[in-house]
Amino acid sequence: MRNEFIYFRLTLAMKPNKYFVIDFDSTFTKVEAFDVLADISLKDFPDLEERKKQIIAITNQGMDGSLSFRESLEHRIALLQPNRRHLEQLVNILRGLVSESFKRNKEFFQEYADHVYIISNGFHAFIDPVVTEFGIKPENILANRFQFDEAGNVIGFDKDNPLSANNGKVEQLKRLNLPGDVYVIGDGYTDYEIKHAGLANKFFAFTENVERERVLSGADHVTPSFDEFLYLNKLNTAISYPKNRINVLLLENVHPIAIELMRAEGFNVETYHAAMTEEELCERIKNVSVLGIRSKTHVSAKVLEHANRLMAIGAFCIGTNQIDLKAATKKGIAVFNAPFSNTRSVVELAIAEMIMLIRGIPDKSTKMHKGIWDKSAKGSYEVRGKKLGLIGYGNIGAQLSVLAESLGMKVLYYDREEKLALGNATKLKSLKELLEQADVVSLHVDGRESNTNLISEREFSWMKPGVIFMNLSRGHVVDIKALRENILSRKIAGCSVDVFPYEPVSNDEEFVSELRDLPNTILTPHIGGSTLEAQENIGQFVPAKFMDYINTGSTSNSVNFPNLTLPTLENAHRLIHIHNNVPGILAKINQVLAQHEINIVGQYLKTNEQIGYVITDINKEYNKEVIKELRAIENTIKFRVLY
Ligand code: NAI
Repeated sequence: MRNEFIYFRLTLAMKPNKYFVIDFDSTFTKVEAFDVLADISLKDFPDLEERKKQIIAITNQGMDGSLSFRESLEHRIALLQPNRRHLEQLVNILRGLVSESFKRNKEFFQEYADHVYIISNGFHAFIDPVVTEFGIKPENILANRFQFDEAGNVIGFDKDNPLSANNGKVEQLKRLNLPGDVYVIGDGYTDYEIKHAGLANKFFAFTENVERERVLSGADHVTPSFDEFLYLNKLNTAISYPKNRINVLLLENVHPIAIELMRAEGFNVETYHAAMTEEELCERIKNVSVLGIRSKTHVSAKVLEHANRLMAIGAFCIGTNQIDLKAATKKGIAVFNAPFSNTRSVVELAIAEMIMLIRGIPDKSTKMHKGIWDKSAKGSYEVRGKKLGLIGYGNIGAQLSVLAESLGMKVLYYDREEKLALGNATKLKSLKELLEQADVVSLHVDGRESNTNLISEREFSWMKPGVIFMNLSRGHVVDIKALRENILSRKIAGCSVDVFPYEPVSNDEEFVSELRDLPNTILTPHIGGSTLEAQENIGQFVPAKFMDYINTGSTSNSVNFPNLTLPTLENAHRLIHIHNNVPGILAKINQVLAQHEINIVGQYLKTNEQIGYVITDINKEYNKEVIKELRAIENTIKFRVLY
């Protein structure tokens, strides 16, 4: 089995006669330095916008040939009027705007310092401080030089420098006469010209920041990131596999923030606005490494059979019933969801509802709509000072506890597990004790099967007459018939239900329930967690889990993998081994490593019923043989290496 995520570090593959010539503006950094300089130096000019427009016009004239490059540079500097102070600010900003994939591969520049050149029509004054931090040698930076007056104002530039003239990069490289193969990487036409003039063996069009049609067409390779450049040239140091080669498929209109985050990280992201059928997904899943869905896409065992490269699935929602978790685990695919992203939304609705119910608002509002004016304080109370009984003190229960206390309520809770009380909340030992005391009962248990009918006639009989009862957890937790009777008998003075044993599959289906048309009862269509904020939180949470998993191997919060939170990798290689949970695998891994005299600097193991997850950090170069042997260990499901 070929694992695409393994890439060997070939330290010896670098021929000594290869030179890497790198552009600065929009390649090494994300921006054009002059654009940033304009914002700094022209900040206090009343005609700032006009000057910026003129600068753009001059730049274009320089490009179309109606103005020589040197003239265009002169005009732009005259308009910008920069000084040393401005340049200092510019350097500070540029340091924060180095392209992400360059930042990730800092090691490369240090390791190959003698072979890396920066070539730019920009200026040493702002390029040198930024690139030398990466280990690039000052003598390998080819750029223009400003001339300053005594007060530190730029008054011109070195006109003998070929880089201040048309075709400058070509001329400069000619003079440099590098004694070997020259690989140029840049985003602009002037970079392509080097290849065109026969001075570069290969030109790589860099598209992480900008894409220029004219440049792409002349390129030997289009490289969406520096990782890809290193991968193509067998020079990887920092990461195992270029992220632009990792295909991400996001279905069902996941929040745009998720798409943005995954693209910013360099992944190749495709999106689709709706759910896919099993058949469609079987087709589309091929070559996808990361799949994002919401609740409507079913990821069946059959779909997973077609998933030849899938590493992770993200459910951009709370539930994961739509995914065949067993089959995913068997294939070594980690599944993540967003269990806490809508906690606050549920809590806010619970607070709103308890206040509405204790004041009898649902009935009063219905009457008003029928033209009945029933002004009276009878049966209306404040929540302040009342006892709120929380059943289940997990994410939601605990947060509701804090908010309710701030409203002046006394909080009691009962949880089957040991949970620390927040604030002044009181933990009770039994459900009965809680139900006997609470003025408002709110259910926040999870949906495990054993919680079916957790609240039925017996539990209602323990409650105080006139109690407010709320269920925003799961429908099957409450015996609906018993609930209806207790509402009708007025034992329950107010009730809100957001979740039902059976819920309509779509908005076109009628909602049928014995709870319809009952007094002082708020019914909502399972929208406790449905807010735009929650959607955005989910959109941020799930990609963070994916990235952690891909970049470090961490599986924290995975629903099907043993949860391991790992330190970031420093000066080590990380071997990630997923296997069927049978005894003795760890020993076998270590045996292979020992045979090859590889020293382990850290090792982490966790298992669940189905699989074992072993992370081994090693500090030594290793060869293909080790990888082969580790993968050949019986019961191995998946294996990958991080650098
Ligand atoms: P959680 O898993 O953090 O907390 C559940 C707590 O209930 C745990 O502390 C557990 O020990 C406790 N528990 C389980 N069974 C119990 C029992 N029989 N007696 C006492 N304690 C018991 O879950 P979280 O995130 O707080 O969610 C709570 C519920 O809310 C879940 O059922 C979830 O599905 C539901 N939910 C509903 C939403 C809506 O839109 N209405 C949105 C989000 C969650």
